[in-house]
Amino acid sequence: MGNPTQSAGLAGVVAGRTALSTVGKEGAGLTYCGFAIEDLAEHASFEEVAWLLFTGELPTRPQLEEFTQRLSGQRSLPAGLRIVLEQIPGSTHPMDALRTGCSMLGCLEPELHFTDQQRAAERLLATLPSMLLYWYHFQATGTRIPLESDEPTLAGHFLRLLHRKPPSAEHVRAIDVSLILYAEHEFNASTFAARVAASTLSDIHSAITAAIGTLRGPLHGGANEAALELMERFPDPDTAERGILDLLARKEKIMGFGHRVYRDRDPRSDIIQKWAQRLCQRPEDQQLYAVAERIHAVMRREKRLFPNLDFYTAPAYRALGIPASMFTPLFVFSRTAGWAAHVFEQRADNRIIRPTAEYIGSEPRAFVPIEKR
Ligand code: COA
Repeated sequence: MGNPTQSAGLAGVVAGRTALSTVGKEGAGLTYCGFAIEDLAEHASFEEVAWLLFTGELPTRPQLEEFTQRLSGQRSLPAGLRIVLEQIPGSTHPMDALRTGCSMLGCLEPELHFTDQQRAAERLLATLPSMLLYWYHFQATGTRIPLESDEPTLAGHFLRLLHRKPPSAEHVRAIDVSLILYAEHEFNASTFAARVAASTLSDIHSAITAAIGTLRGPLHGGANEAALELMERFPDPDTAERGILDLLARKEKIMGFGHRVYRDRDPRSDIIQKWAQRLCQRPEDQQLYAVAERIHAVMRREKRLFPNLDFYTAPAYRALGIPASMFTPLFVFSRTAGWAAHVFEQRADNRIIRPTAEYIGSEPRAFVPIEKR
């Protein structure tokens, strides 16, 4: 078997192959199927990116129209799923509601065969926002909201269902861009979890349920919610500077900074920062944005650390009136495209993912009968 490489947290270990994205690759940066993230965020829609990840190619206009219509046509939830969502308490974190909803959909509409995988993935893309917002409004006000809207895109549909009124084109585009930025990122922890599940030849709902549970933690997707919580602690930039210095002196991690793979910058952060600045127009949002900029400057000066995508997503989402607990669920809606594409890729060239461990336990010893312990 040779001498296996060992590294804490698998840092630097090449754990497989992918044609879906490059992360921080010299000369390429972040690309999805060869296309630069900057170009996709400028010119594409999230649906275009989802198609790209599923098929490896950009869609033609008829293909995109047909795909977008197919997704928007299957947003309603089966009655059995609505009943389950109604049982989930309002105090539950929305990520747990989504994890449960994804698993329940797998019970009601199982993936019958791997040839069924894209249909199952599309159904998840279409229904995850419906699950979240059906549950949210039911628990908040007892209202069973209609899950249809005339918004063609996932971004517009989400805002429409959240605020129960038509969203502005600018706000839809802001969400759309954030979904593009979140859609895919190589072998991050949640994608790896999805691939491990898929490598056992399990079903796609199990793989995506595992991924949602993995994304939830604050070192991964949960960082966007945690970053807002941090920023909101400080009423102004000077207080933020003192607060961050204090946290750093106590060796605490500052959420929304650092990355396992990127060394100097996260290219997604520059894009979302511009959107955050543009969206933060109300005085209270401008104040939050100023706090964010100061935290950014302090982290660069003190630790040479840079913001990742989650940091400026927080003020951008808050300016759009999105509750903080829905920040990571938005990441789920988008990354479901990436997770599913990785499941397809794993299945196409599968070997079960099963690494080995260095044993650090006791030497072999004699068994002691229970009455003699
Ligand atoms: N705040 C303060 N210090 C940080 C930091 C942060 N956000 N991220 C990394 N560091 C420091 C570490 O303390 C460590 O310092 P040390 O060598 O003095 O111990 C050094 O930078 C290397 O960090 P390490 O924890 O080894 O990096 P990692 O690759 O294991 O972890 C993250 C990567 C992303 C999990 C980590 O940067 C982090 O926890 N960031 C905050 C959570 C977050 O934003 N997650 C979203 C990622 S997209």
